[in-house]
Amino acid sequence: MDSNNQPIGIFDSGIGGTSIWKEIHQLLPNETTIYLADSKNAPYGQKSKEEIVALSIKNTELLLQMNCKLIVVACNTATTNAIDELRAKYDIPFVGIEPAIKPAASHSKTQIIGILATQGTLNSELFSKTTKKFQETKIIEQVGHGLVQLIENGEIDSEKMTQLLHSYLNPMIAANIDYLVLGCSHYPYLIPQIKKILPEHIQIIDSGQAVAKQTQNILREKVGFSSAKKSEQLFYTNNDPKVLAKILGNQYTVEQKNF
Ligand code: SIN
Repeated sequence: MDSNNQPIGIFDSGIGGTSIWKEIHQLLPNETTIYLADSKNAPYGQKSKEEIVALSIKNTELLLQMNCKLIVVACNTATTNAIDELRAKYDIPFVGIEPAIKPAASHSKTQIIGILATQGTLNSELFSKTTKKFQETKIIEQVGHGLVQLIENGEIDSEKMTQLLHSYLNPMIAANIDYLVLGCSHYPYLIPQIKKILPEHIQIIDSGQAVAKQTQNILREKVGFSSAKKSEQLFYTNNDPKVLAKILGNQYTVEQKNF
C-alpha cells in the first residue's frame, strides 16, 4: 500500500470522542488527525434515527472538504444509527464504535454483564442484533440519562454526576454483574468516579483501543499510512472551545467553527 498523507477525520456529538482520539493518536502518532466536536447538537442519544443520520452526514461532508482519507465515527449513538447510511453514501472507509459486548460476555464468570449507554444506542437495530448473539449472557441495560450533558458542561466531578452514577450502577451491582461495558465514547471520562462506586472485582470495558486497532488495520490494508515527517492534531468545535481544550489538558489549540 502506498503512503497517504491525508488526515484521518474523527467526529463525535461532542467532546467524549476525544477518548477515542487519544487511543488513535497513541497508536498512530505520525498521522494527522482532524477532530470535530458537534457539541452544539449534543446529546445525540435522545434524537431520532433520521436526525442522527442527518447530523452524521453534515459532519462527514465537512471532514471530506478537509480532505480526510478515512473517518472514525467516535460516537456510539452515531455508529449504531448511521454508519450503514454513511458507508452506502460515501466511498471512503468508516470505522465505527460499538459497545464491547463480545469481550465482556466471553470473559464474564457470572454471565451477567451491565451496559451503560444512551437511549439511541440501546434502541438501535445494530445493538439488538449484537445482543442476540449472546443469549446465554444476561445483559442489564441502563440508559445514562444526563451523563453526556454533564460532561459537555464540564461537570464531570459534580455532586449531580455522583448521584446519577450511583442510581445507574447500584442496581447492576445488586444484580451481580462482573463486567460493565461503557457504551458511549463520553463515558471513559467517568472511569475514576465509576471505580469509586463499583466493587473491585467488576471490570470496566470500553472500545477505544479496539477502534484504534481497526483504524490501523484499514490504513495498512486499504488507505495507506502517512509518510510525512510531522503530524498535526487539529480540533474544531461548534461550541465553547474552552471545554474541549480543557479535556485535552490544554495542550492543543481548539478552533471554534460553524458547522
Ligand atoms: C450522545 O451524544 O448522546 C452520546 C454519544 C455516544 O453515544 O457515544
